[in-house]
Amino acid sequence: LKLLTTPEAMRDFPRQGTVALVPTMGALHAGHLALVEHARQLADTVVVSIYVNPLQFGPTEDFTRYPRQLDADMQALNGLADAVFAPHTLYDQAETTQVVPPAGLTHCLCGRSRPGHFTGVATVVLKLFQVVQPTVAIFGEKDFQQLVVLQRMVHDLNLPVDIVPHPTAREADGLAMSSRNVYLTTPQEREAARTLSQTLFALKAQAQPGQPLPPLLTHLAQKMLHPSVQLEYLVVVDPHTLAEQHQLTGPARALIAGRVGPVRLIDNIAL
Ligand code: PAF
Repeated sequence: LKLLTTPEAMRDFPRQGTVALVPTMGALHAGHLALVEHARQLADTVVVSIYVNPLQFGPTEDFTRYPRQLDADMQALNGLADAVFAPHTLYDQAETTQVVPPAGLTHCLCGRSRPGHFTGVATVVLKLFQVVQPTVAIFGEKDFQQLVVLQRMVHDLNLPVDIVPHPTAREADGLAMSSRNVYLTTPQEREAARTLSQTLFALKAQAQPGQPLPPLLTHLAQKMLHPSVQLEYLVVVDPHTLAEQHQLTGPARALIAGRVGPVRLIDNIAL
């Protein structure tokens, strides 16, 4: 497993055949490793990038305390990936050119509380694509809005890469795996966090075609969510446009975001 820490070294890395990239911010868990295993099935060379991208964090967010554990990540990837691209920085100017995805996809859902976040994500992912030059890139469905934004970027900018989504990995109690789950320290926080996915599972079980969704969403948020969860949103959207759906008419995605103590958690499910 080769560790590459500069864009130049990454560009010079000898690759055979097709290349799959798994972009991450490190603190790898079983969900990330499933993405890497998927990548292995899709391409001859597998590259994992590990970079905590400052551009996608707001001024009050957890950039400085985001978990960083490169040694453990390298160990976890040994035998699974061919190279790890973990640059010290990807921005050498105070101000940088940025990729601004369409407002229709970024001003809703997480974009409401995280202005600029998806511009930061799109910018770093385009840079990673330019440096690694992958044939395919694997992204978890856990960050569903991110996935839609990046699929749109690839389409709009005619990028020669296929984006491949991978289903969310879950803990035994249903909690979506996330590097931020390490912030859930007490059993009560953990119990509260679990109720986000339970709410989505109940919604999937109960939503009927044609049924008005807002009353069901309100009912389930009250009934299923732990009282300590500060709900940010629970909505059903069109899986391509992210437009809010008030009735189940075709393919739809339910998304939830909420705070458990200081930890902001997100999850989603196909309906
Ligand atoms: O999903 C993530 O971990 C990040 O947003 C990504 C795609 C690696 C960009 O920094």
